[in-house]
Amino acid sequence: MSELGQELNAEGLQDQCKVLGLPWRVRVLAETASTNDVLREEGRKGEVVGQVVFAERQTAGRGRRHHVWESAAGQDLLFSLALRPAVEVAKWTRVTQLTALAVCLAVEAELGLQLAIKWPNDLQFRGKKVCGILVESFGGADDRYLIIGIGLNVNGTQFAPGLAETATSLRLASESDWVRERGVDREALASCLLVELNACLAAAENEAAFFERMQAVRVRNALLGKQVKLLHEGQEMWGQVTGLDDEGALLLRLPDGAEVTVASAEQVRTQELG
Ligand code: BTN
Repeated sequence: MSELGQELNAEGLQDQCKVLGLPWRVRVLAETASTNDVLREEGRKGEVVGQVVFAERQTAGRGRRHHVWESAAGQDLLFSLALRPAVEVAKWTRVTQLTALAVCLAVEAELGLQLAIKWPNDLQFRGKKVCGILVESFGGADDRYLIIGIGLNVNGTQFAPGLAETATSLRLASESDWVRERGVDREALASCLLVELNACLAAAENEAAFFERMQAVRVRNALLGKQVKLLHEGQEMWGQVTGLDDEGALLLRLPDGAEVTVASAEQVRTQELG
């Protein structure tokens, strides 16, 4: 198992997948521009579904809205996996919520830390971002697939000036002296993530399983009760988050009492009033 400072071992992770009966084919790259881009490029030439690519360092890591994803080499978990849910494409939006839940469950199991899901694709610890998820869809009508990119701040203890106030890592969040001194075992956490991702993502394909998983997502909703800025029918306004609907869309109450359902993250700016 890896310790702080050691590189992730692809063979070790692949062996774990074999032992646990997980379908993933795992690689670890020392450096790449972006793990999402690795799978996207390879997906142009052949089948990538089932592949997982970790990188110790990304030179052009990215998030939603063209944000840069920064991470010190060898500290965090930066990885992407390719998936083709066996359900109609309209339901693939479920994948972001299920991925967020899988990361929460893995972090709870490995470290006993409770993360909250800031809809739709951030995970927070006590209000600070600890993980970002980037889900992208590629391919044509017949071979469409998703690439899920996950950036989890694991062992970093220093952040760029603009991020220090708003981001944290699992190591910094941990209440264990051992973890704070020596860091999180990234390989054990990666292995647990692959287990939880496999279990949670399967729920996208089954109504009852997805309903059950959504209950677990709801109790981790960081935005519940918060006021967020919303672009509604071309106008900016504030709305109060009242929950998540059956498909994981955000439910909001407007100042005039009207209830709105927001399916796209592009419609909300989670600039919070309180
Ligand atoms: C966000 O916060 O908007 C999402 C950030 C996603 C970052 C991860 S790191 C691994 C994968 N490769 C990327 O370039 N992005 C994702």
